[in-house]
Amino acid sequence: MATRYSYDYLVIGSGLAGLWFALHVADRGRVAVVTKKACAESNTYYAQGGIASVWDADDSFDSHIEDTLSAGVGLCDQAAVRAVVTEGPGQIRALIDLGARFTSVSGHLHLGREGGHSRARIVHARDTTGREVEQTLVQAVKAHNKIDVFEHHYAVDLITEHHLGQYVTRLRPDISCFGAYVLDAGREEVCTFLAKVTMLATGGSGAVYRHTTNPPIATGDGVAMAYRAKARIANMEFVQFHPTALYRTGAGTQPSFLISEAVRGHGAVLCNQSGHRFMKEYDDRAELAPRDIVARAIDDQLKQRGEDFVLLDITHKDARETEQAFPNIVRTCRRYGIDPVRQPIPVVPSAHYVCGGVQTDLNARTSIGGLMASGEVASTGLHGANRLASNSLLEALVFSRRAATLAPDLAAGRDRKRTVPDWDASGTVRPHEWVLISHNRDELQRIMWNYVGIVRSSLRLTRARRRARLLYEEVEDFYARTQISDRLCELRNLIAVGYLIIRSAQMRRESRGLHYTLDYPESVEAEQRPTLI
Ligand code: FAD
Ligand code: SIN
Repeated sequence: MATRYSYDYLVIGSGLAGLWFALHVADRGRVAVVTKKACAESNTYYAQGGIASVWDADDSFDSHIEDTLSAGVGLCDQAAVRAVVTEGPGQIRALIDLGARFTSVSGHLHLGREGGHSRARIVHARDTTGREVEQTLVQAVKAHNKIDVFEHHYAVDLITEHHLGQYVTRLRPDISCFGAYVLDAGREEVCTFLAKVTMLATGGSGAVYRHTTNPPIATGDGVAMAYRAKARIANMEFVQFHPTALYRTGAGTQPSFLISEAVRGHGAVLCNQSGHRFMKEYDDRAELAPRDIVARAIDDQLKQRGEDFVLLDITHKDARETEQAFPNIVRTCRRYGIDPVRQPIPVVPSAHYVCGGVQTDLNARTSIGGLMASGEVASTGLHGANRLASNSLLEALVFSRRAATLAPDLAAGRDRKRTVPDWDASGTVRPHEWVLISHNRDELQRIMWNYVGIVRSSLRLTRARRRARLLYEEVEDFYARTQISDRLCELRNLIAVGYLIIRSAQMRRESRGLHYTLDYPESVEAEQRPTLI
């Protein structure tokens, strides 16, 4: 018999969303956090710019709400926006109380400026905000006697009635989650984690694209698991490409090093290779326009001029100030032979954030009983068609806190299903043809990059879907015959996420926010609604 664990709360993922939930729910029951690599490895760790929040007496909730709604182009859920904006500052205060140290000047938090924000409101720890936040949380969670952390444990599938032998379709209204099957990498064993409430906090899906700012853990596992479990998935067509990732000749594909939007907030300008500052031709806000606009402008420049990168220039600013504000960015660029205080930085857009995900209500409940979701894996309604810069760490804080408040009530009405069977690995063998599978991952990333990128068309989407279908069939066949591994599961999940993005993009017959298609270049009022699968 395989190893079985039983907890009140199972948290899948150890970024900000998972750990913030774990810390707040732990006084109401025992918590297991499973995470596929070392605990700190997450998108959270690499966050640079900071956390958007109304902090200054001159700022207002209404202004932050207005900026968020304006970036989301008609698709934000107003209640979600209000909740995140108004509850956010309290959560940042709680993070500071836990030990996070943010950059201050004369005893006041220094507030950075980013695109789409009408004023400076980004709380940050220089240019390594995520590292500060993640390290603070990991320390607190590891010290907590009610939380057990299982590193190098890969969640394979959510357990539902399907695993009890019942026929479950998407039309069934009362699907329940009883925990998850989790691959323990050390023992090469699939364990059963039973829980009254499961929190899905697996983060993003950037690895579905050939070029991404996300670390390799971002393979969309949570969205894919929830989709297989028949949860409702929303707005997957809205993929945010960060305008400024460092361009490196002959670099590997992933991840691309991010040059924070805060650098533009600090005064950096974008020029093409002839030295022409082009952003004003695309938007009055120039370099500080929302990301979709800046990324499309760069894409347009690259296509018009047949060049591989544009230039981000901060050389006109005081060198010492730049070094102090962005020590990590300056150090990393120098390591690659570019000195940002003396020469412009070559940059290109790179896949950064999927605004869609597992649909939740205002308390992080999904459409499946006992399953909650928070952070990048979720679609809470905050971002709509485009995420405002630095709103996602804030979203994770607020929704995980809300989830932790509600979770004990959910848990009170639920049993741990002890009749759940062990993982069934019968009929599978060790893989012999791994090379075919690794090529499939590469192929998927190219398809997504070339056909489902910043600018789309119906023809490109049809092609992408046909090719993704073929990859799906090959991988499902392989999966049925092969002993599972994290690499194989990730590939399977990436294909599912790719499919969800393509299908959602096909369903939207207009351009809005991050979804831009040549066949429907305008926004259409009748299409102003979320895409649901
Ligand atoms: P993550 O932090 O990614 O955590 C997900 C966790 O789930 C990881 O521990 C991962 O290992 C684990 N996991 C995944 N799949 C499995 C599985 N199958 N089994 C077990 N564990 C699993 N946002 C901002 O608001 N401000 C910023 O300045 C900012 N800068 C960014 C810079 C970069 C380079 C990147 C990549 C993102 C940035 N973002 C920023 C976005 C933000 O960092 C993320 O949206 C946010 O951190 C997501 O938090 P999360 O907890 O949902 O996911
Ligand atoms: C950045 O620092 O530019 C990233 C901010 C974000 O993704 O919100």
